[in-house]
Amino acid sequence: MSNYHIKHLEEYFQVYRKSVQDPKRFWEEIAEEHFVWKKKWNEVLSWDFEKPEIKWFDGAQLNITENCLDRHLPSRGNKTAILFEPNDPSGGAQHITYRELHERVCRFANVLKNQGIGKGDRVCIYLPMIPELAFSLLACARIGAIHSVVFAGFSATALSTRINDCDAKMVITSDGSYRGAKTIDLKGIVDEALQDCPGVQSVLVAKRINTDIHMEAGRDHWLQPLLEEAYADCAAEIMEAEDPLFILYTSGSTGKPKGMLHTTAGYMIYTAYTFKNVFQYREEDIYWCSADIGWITGHSYIVYGPLANGATTVMFEGVPSYPDFGRFWEVVEKHKVTQFYTAPTAIRALAKESLDLVERHDLSSLKILGTVGEPINEEAWHWYNDHIGNKQCPIVDTWWQTETGGMLISPIPFSTPTKPTYATLPLPGVQPVLMDEHGKILKGNQTDGRLCIQFPWPSIARTIWGNHQRYKETYFSAFPGMYFTGDGALRDEVGYYRITGRVDDVIIVSGHNLGTAPIEDAINEHPAVAESAIVGFPHDIKGNALYGFVILKENGEDRDRDNLKKEINQMITDHIGPIAKLDKIQFVPGLPKTRSGKIMRRILRKIASNELGNLGDTSTLLNPEVVDQIIEERQ
Ligand code: WT7
Repeated sequence: MSNYHIKHLEEYFQVYRKSVQDPKRFWEEIAEEHFVWKKKWNEVLSWDFEKPEIKWFDGAQLNITENCLDRHLPSRGNKTAILFEPNDPSGGAQHITYRELHERVCRFANVLKNQGIGKGDRVCIYLPMIPELAFSLLACARIGAIHSVVFAGFSATALSTRINDCDAKMVITSDGSYRGAKTIDLKGIVDEALQDCPGVQSVLVAKRINTDIHMEAGRDHWLQPLLEEAYADCAAEIMEAEDPLFILYTSGSTGKPKGMLHTTAGYMIYTAYTFKNVFQYREEDIYWCSADIGWITGHSYIVYGPLANGATTVMFEGVPSYPDFGRFWEVVEKHKVTQFYTAPTAIRALAKESLDLVERHDLSSLKILGTVGEPINEEAWHWYNDHIGNKQCPIVDTWWQTETGGMLISPIPFSTPTKPTYATLPLPGVQPVLMDEHGKILKGNQTDGRLCIQFPWPSIARTIWGNHQRYKETYFSAFPGMYFTGDGALRDEVGYYRITGRVDDVIIVSGHNLGTAPIEDAINEHPAVAESAIVGFPHDIKGNALYGFVILKENGEDRDRDNLKKEINQMITDHIGPIAKLDKIQFVPGLPKTRSGKIMRRILRKIASNELGNLGDTSTLLNPEVVDQIIEERQ
């Protein structure tokens, strides 16, 4: 029996049992057999979910880039590590071999050092999906700097908040980016953000779109000439197992984003292990995850997981709609992609387009399909299965989070029979439980509740940067002794899990995790707005869309409503980014509140979703009369 590569259902159950009965032994064997270490650990795991404190492989020393790069050089030096497909389909793909990637990462690491970056320093990365993005993560990891990637669709304000929260000394960006037929002035956004970031000492700028941009003397440097001058060799910094690898921000229930901190050894082992099993990865495969490296999916399953396995990972700069809605399938055909991993929102958008865009491409190279980011509905699942997988490719519906670092619940293809809309079974080492509202564990099958995990897995985030108390309150306080995911789930008659959605103030829009609080904070900054409440409502492509209920101040009452709506969405775009824009805005005289002054979002959610039949008891509200008024003027 191999712990590392599960090949059938019986084996899954055996491996799973072992991983639960003796987790330390289970992960220790994997760590010993499949990774390179400078020094072995003293203890596989120590943990306390009350504190909370979690340590995996304490005492071990390693560098993740040696596991992702150096060790592959003898056997895979000429194999493509990163297959870059540019925005422009005629732009020519780049095949970057493991040897080339190693050299570029080393040069980049030397550039960072020459700029005064060292172990433990934070480097903010704000780049489009170009190879330099992958190089920059690995270059940071090479020298022990902590990377914090900010998705390049976030606004200047969102960027500066994140830079300041982690005290980044450096920003890596590009002159601009391509997005379908458009270009975006990324450097302009960085310049604006840096007006509020006194701690940033230098900015490295990759040339991508060749625009004439402002370069601040003494602060900004073109990246490419520095890379050319730098040494092509750079010894990997020796890192402790629990040294930070990266910070990645996710939204939460207050306005401030949470900087989830991931550490080195556990993250490496878990992402590599899950990549291998969930994609049944084999040496000759061409694997493509269409996410952006600005999200955790890209960190774990474009960069670290695939490279730790010596895989070929496709990096796609473009969008699914350019030059037409057949682009994904064109890329699959062109590179003979074997595993394709995307988000339900993309599947729903593509399923609306003509089937001819799919059928004109040869998709026979595909073996496994994956989804992530939000629940997949039955219709989208079948379309993906029938038209993309030709009913031959198992679909892995992978449930996980920024906080979990890697997939926790997912089928293992060719082992776990799939079931539409179900993430199915926990991966080895993962111990999910469902809890009722009173904190009781729900035993047995055919039940539903709040999804918690009762035992640590190697890639769980260790803290929120600079705010351990918030980490404890958010994840370990609702159900003491457990990690609380924020999701609801049901368990069917055979023990399969189906994620039903968030049970907190997070809304998943097009697979993006958005907190209501930061959006409300942005709206409330508008001079005519007194108060607001955001809820989600079902949307056939985005999964959920946002509905804003807004109370105006007296000075706003006479203003043109359509202009106000535009200004409100502009506020959101400026503070967060276009992904958080509202689909519907309704101006209301008041918001339904409890006697203690809490907004009753449950009622607003029902109104926004047009479920008016079943609003529940509104008589205990402070202001029941506003409910009827809101219903009357529903958008
Ligand atoms: C939230 C985490 C995991 C990387 C991308 C999102 C939702 C994620 C699924 C799935 C149903 C899912 C959950 C989760 N989610 N995957 N397969 N089925 N829901 O990471 O931005 O941290 O969001 O996404 O609600 O809590 P994230």
